[in-house]
Amino acid sequence: MKVKDLITIKDLSISDIDEIFSLAAKLKREGKISKDEPLKGKTLGLIFQKPSLRTKVSFAAAMAQLGGTSIFLAPEEVKLGEREEIKDVARTLSRYLDGIVARTFKHEDIVELAEYSTVPVINGLSDFSHPCQALADLFTVKEKKDKVKGVKIAFVGDGNNVCNSLLMTSARVGADIAVATPKGYEPDKEVVKIAMDFAGVTGSKVVICTDPEKAVAGADVVYTDVWTSMGQENEKAKRLKAFKDFQINARLCSKANKDFIIMHCLPAHRGEEITDECMESSHSVVFDQAENRMHVEKAILLLLLK
Ligand code: CP
Ligand code: NVA
Repeated sequence: MKVKDLITIKDLSISDIDEIFSLAAKLKREGKISKDEPLKGKTLGLIFQKPSLRTKVSFAAAMAQLGGTSIFLAPEEVKLGEREEIKDVARTLSRYLDGIVARTFKHEDIVELAEYSTVPVINGLSDFSHPCQALADLFTVKEKKDKVKGVKIAFVGDGNNVCNSLLMTSARVGADIAVATPKGYEPDKEVVKIAMDFAGVTGSKVVICTDPEKAVAGADVVYTDVWTSMGQENEKAKRLKAFKDFQINARLCSKANKDFIIMHCLPAHRGEEITDECMESSHSVVFDQAENRMHVEKAILLLLLK
């Protein structure tokens, strides 16, 4: 991989993504522990300003399984940008660590951290993007459908961080993607433009609309994310209203292809963006998807830290 950091999918070439996917598949086949301990002696810092289950645990487990170690830094410990400036945190941590995973509110904070760090910085979710999630998602699609090119992904819900990254990654690898959001909750305009540019190269079809049925019609993958993201809790009532027709339920899924799969980055708010029935249905691959976070992150860590 040619990049120093993993901040957004925009920076990755098709061959970078191919490299991540083939290494992740190999690591997954080989099983949990890498006997040759390729990251022995390496330490990963995990700076989190928001809660996390999957990102925190999958990165920590990935490091342990590759022979390295990790240090979790909770929000109140670091107080990124409050107790001291981000650029000072970046330069200090670079003297101790071999890599940093950061989960922030503001995307610019991760960009600044990367700019001043001499070690790789990996975006573990910002208000703008969630690249590790999207890479694991497309890896999962490839695993389940044996291909990504021409597979139709429907994203229904909030055009937020997860949607932004899914859009860019799908278009980058040649999967078709249709996004349906309520008016005012569309994905980032710049992201749509990048996705369209990628689609011009890979032949992917990108559709942005406000009609969930149109997006899900003939879809192989039906994907959603929470309606109220971390940090938006005070908008919950307004969002419940705005998104009420954008739920993944049996009726909407009846428009998809026969062997469609249901995906969700998790955590899920059952009864809001997805019904309990859909989460538990035989179409749901959400826990395989969650597992793949770790395999894909192992590949990313090996490519960036080794
Ligand atoms: N999908 C995801 O990133 O989960 P966490 O918020 O639990 O890390
Ligand atoms: N959009 C969600 C994703 C959580 C993984 C959030 O930002 O809270």
